[in-house]
Amino acid sequence: MTEAAIKTTDLTKEFRGLRAVDGLDLEVPRGIVFGFLGPNGAGKTTTIRLLLGLIAPTAGRAEVLGFDTRTEACEIRARVGALLEHDGLYERLSAEDNLEFYARIWRLPPQARRDRIKEILTHFGLWERRRERTGALSRGMKRKLAVARAVLHRPPLVFLDEPTSGLDPVAAASLREDLRSLAEREGATVFLTTHNLDEAEKICALVGVIHKGRLLAVGSPEELKARGGERLEIAGRGLDERVAALLSARNEVLAITREEGRLTLDLRPGADQAPLVRAMVEAGVEVEEVRKTRASLEEVFLALVEEERR
Ligand SMILES: Nc1ncnc2c1ncn2[C@@H]1O[C@H](COP(=O)(O)OP(=O)(O)OP(=O)(O)O)[C@@H](O)[C@H]1O
Ligand SMILES: [Mg+2]
Repeated sequence: MTEAAIKTTDLTKEFRGLRAVDGLDLEVPRGIVFGFLGPNGAGKTTTIRLLLGLIAPTAGRAEVLGFDTRTEACEIRARVGALLEHDGLYERLSAEDNLEFYARIWRLPPQARRDRIKEILTHFGLWERRRERTGALSRGMKRKLAVARAVLHRPPLVFLDEPTSGLDPVAAASLREDLRSLAEREGATVFLTTHNLDEAEKICALVGVIHKGRLLAVGSPEELKARGGERLEIAGRGLDERVAALLSARNEVLAITREEGRLTLDLRPGADQAPLVRAMVEAGVEVEEVRKTRASLEEVFLALVEEERR
């Protein structure tokens, strides 16, 4: 089993002329958390539905766990876990009965079923409330139950469409830990979508950015952030208009802002800071502090999407 968990080639889906997914070439290796990022309507959910074989591509193809989504969707759905926008829970059943129902579908033997249900409900903090009607649980509790349902049978690959939406920060953090350990300890592949870029940065080994159906970038959060170049925050005396003009004329500097004795420089990727500091000193600036930061994944994401809009 060396092939990727997911491999798509020119995968395309049109809805009455609208290209929801447009020539997607993507490879997701096994055993990692992959984050699929993109603004509303970018094509994330449509991609998941294509990968599950719930809808047929207009063009191109995709393989999931080595199975073709067009001809072997049953094989795929028999192996993966999925949580789409809809929770897939029976509101009238209790939390426990919901999981019992799904555990039977997955044909877990009775003892294993009971153990796993107890383990997972305890884990998600729902054991005390297992007998209550699901419809009476809070939105976040339902979401947790829905994630529990998706990973109940320990699938080798799980699709989670915005798993942490509606969760409080504590619950979201603990779910993130669970997802990461699912990948690390059980070797499962997690394919998730999220609008929370901090979250993606924390748990995803690889992220893909999609916009208007097109894949704009793929890489580790570190790699994507490195594309953004560095930012220098400089404090000191003599950082006036003239120095700002001097610096902004330099090739290494993409953007510059000046306020109250501080300068912020956005550098071209790979640019060296030393010559800039030297130039400032030569211009008579008394440099007190130089702080180097990187653009956050969120800033890189916004820049990618903005660039595409233009
Ligand atoms: N069944 C459908 N019929 C027609 N158009 C659809 C259908 N499903 C999705 N679309 C369109 O395809 C595009 C992508 O939708 P999709 O749901 O994949 O976006 P998304 O990235 O999941 O967005 P969000 O972050 O809002 O969930 C949108 O323009 C949407 O309106
Ligand atoms: Mg969606």
